Amino acid sequence: VDIIKRLSAKEPARTSGGFSVRTYRDNSNDVAEVCAHLKEGHVIALPTETVYGLAGDASKPETCQQIFKIKGRPLIDPLIVHIADLSQIELLAEWNPLAQRLADHFWPGALTLILKKKPRVPDIVTAGLNTVAIRMPAHPLMQKVLRTSGLCLAAPSANPFGYVSPTSAQHVIDSLGDRIIGVLDGGECQIGIESTIIDVSDGQTLRLLRPGGITRERIEQATGVTVVQPLPSQCKAQNEPITAPGMLARHYSPHTPLSLFAYRNTPTFNAESTEQAVLWFQRPSNAQRIPTVEHFWLTEDGNLAEAAHNIFNLLRRLDQGAFSHVFVEKAPDAGLGLAINDRLRRAAERANPS
Ligand code: TXA
Ligand code: MG
Repeated sequence: VDIIKRLSAKEPARTSGGFSVRTYRDNSNDVAEVCAHLKEGHVIALPTETVYGLAGDASKPETCQQIFKIKGRPLIDPLIVHIADLSQIELLAEWNPLAQRLADHFWPGALTLILKKKPRVPDIVTAGLNTVAIRMPAHPLMQKVLRTSGLCLAAPSANPFGYVSPTSAQHVIDSLGDRIIGVLDGGECQIGIESTIIDVSDGQTLRLLRPGGITRERIEQATGVTVVQPLPSQCKAQNEPITAPGMLARHYSPHTPLSLFAYRNTPTFNAESTEQAVLWFQRPSNAQRIPTVEHFWLTEDGNLAEAAHNIFNLLRRLDQGAFSHVFVEKAPDAGLGLAINDRLRRAAERANPS
């Protein structure tokens, strides 16, 4: 299978439903129009360097409600607020020196900070928590929209709740095209995996709530503070109340059943089935490429950033391949591999069959 050909194939947009989605581009007219829509309280999908976000004015509760509705997301799962400038923090959260150190190193970029919230942040944004998630994204087009509109934008990933996150405008159109009025096309997301979420709300400890585009190692190096990871017991099943938000076991899930196998191992295929595929971490050798199954891979030569960049695109492609089962090799468990394996584990988790 020619992976490049598969990656560049385009499907037609879905046109059913009430909306026909308009694609906006990187020019001043389109950016002005997108900003006008956002200021009126509309929801538009916007590019970031991690994944596309489903964005709306964070100060408007009705707009935020609309975001939850479009995504089909439960109201107990809070949103990230995106800013262009540190001066906006003052309105939103209690800042502290450790947060400042993280911002100095990693903003703009793929790091979300959990901070104590200020009262003017609507409760719907934070799902009633006393903390708020804040990120300053690096994507130039997202920054242009944030600066031109002057808004703080609440934005979860622009996918239906529980499905694979979008890393291109086409992904957004494929799964939300009949539910939104517009998507701003900023090309393929460079990082391709969501931001790392760190709770720094007490100003002393760094709690990793979600591994992501910025590795734990880099955060420890920049701050000299050890990053603590919450216990797996805090990862709740989908229908239980969330005590540690962002920790739903099943997430990012394609419809095709996936099973994971260890890095550099070989899966056990079902001899009866002819519709199996393997998603290798790295391009498989000829010996590994047994002919009765289809082969895909995240990276040519084991580069973790390349693997992160490709993962969501490949999970979506695999879903279109009508495979009965896909075997997925885990990434090495270090650096960005932790975020990749986190997404793979959640993608493979099936909803409780009872
Ligand atoms: O890279 C990203 O972070 C992307 C882009 C669009 O910025 N956004 C993103 O948003 O991934 P979302 O909503 O799909 O995931 C954000 C996670 C959620 O799982 C939510 O539970 C968690 O952040 N979160 C938000 N506010 C929180 C809070 N106050 N405390 C703990 N977790 C929070
Ligand atoms: Mg998401």
